[in-house]
Amino acid sequence: MKKLNPGKSGLIIPSIAIGCMRIADMEEAALVSHISYCMDHGLNFFDHADIYGGGKCETIFGKAWKKAGCKREDMMFQSKCGIVPGIMYDLSAEHIFYSVDNILKRLDTDYLDVLLLHRPDALMEPEEVAKAFDWLEQSGKVRYFGVSNQRPSQIELLKKCVRQSLLVDQLQFSIPFSNMAAAGMEVNMLTDGAIDRDGGILDYCHLNDITIQAWSPFQSGLAKGIFIGDNENYPELNQALLDLSRKYQTTPTAIASAWIFRHPADIQMIAGTTKISRLDEIIRGSEIALTREEWYRLYLAAGHMLP
Ligand SMILES: NC(=O)c1ccc[n+]([C@@H]2O[C@H](COP(=O)([O-])OP(=O)(O)OC[C@H]3O[C@@H](n4cnc5c(N)ncnc54)[C@H](OP(=O)(O)O)[C@@H]3O)[C@@H](O)[C@H]2O)c1
Repeated sequence: MKKLNPGKSGLIIPSIAIGCMRIADMEEAALVSHISYCMDHGLNFFDHADIYGGGKCETIFGKAWKKAGCKREDMMFQSKCGIVPGIMYDLSAEHIFYSVDNILKRLDTDYLDVLLLHRPDALMEPEEVAKAFDWLEQSGKVRYFGVSNQRPSQIELLKKCVRQSLLVDQLQFSIPFSNMAAAGMEVNMLTDGAIDRDGGILDYCHLNDITIQAWSPFQSGLAKGIFIGDNENYPELNQALLDLSRKYQTTPTAIASAWIFRHPADIQMIAGTTKISRLDEIIRGSEIALTREEWYRLYLAAGHMLP
């Protein structure tokens, strides 16, 4: 599987990360098997957040990776903090320290490979984040840092004070949910896709070697669910996925994955499935190189336009 090197930092990660947001209801034995399967297939990068399952996702994962007999040094744990659900965002140094200590306890580990700031906090003071990152780095509790759902100007604001490289920005990205790409093509048009919702984050990350981690790669948007299969909003897209899956002798899930991997910005996909069979399809997708025409065919079939 293709490996990525965010920020040319020396941190080598697989192009597929395992999202752990939906594992709260998995039986322990199933989760242990899931982790073992991932590790056997080079999928050793696990994405968490302190809020997933109210902390339960990290807690059960913390028990399961040990039961799976994995060595910590063979695995990479990423988690996020900064959301206090339903109340506020909090990127104060005190909240970041407190969150990381609890994350480490739940995951049953001494350190995180990567810590992300989960969402921008309107009251963020970059000096506070810098203080937290310095201390977490010096204490050995966090090796690398990044952000999630942030635009270029917010990353630049952090960089005013933060010494560490910000290696990743985790953002929603899928064939239908791809305004990041649309805005770059519908420049100066009076079209929906021309609306700049992210300050040009796709080009900014590509330019600065920041790895985009695509979250919800199979979801169409917040309310519409999975776009693959019998989603009545995407008949053309599903036809195109089926046609290409016949050509490549694979499944629509693999083709939808290949669409993300085809982007030259070297995007890491965060797969949220709890099914081993679907992981296999995604791995297959990482091995398919769609042609330029096929990439655009899927993009257009999802309802986007080319001016
Ligand atoms: N930074 C952020 O703000 C943010 C927000 C959301 C998520 N995330 C991260 O991104 C990860 C992935 O997000 P996600 O879980 O929404 O992504 P996803 O991979 O698009 O969705 C996975 C869900 O879709 C289901 N599914 C149904 N049909 C599928 C198909 N054909 N192919 C694949 N999955 C299918 C899966 O069910 P099965 O389990 O039955 O396969 C699972 O419930 C999360 O685990 C989390 O780590 C980050």
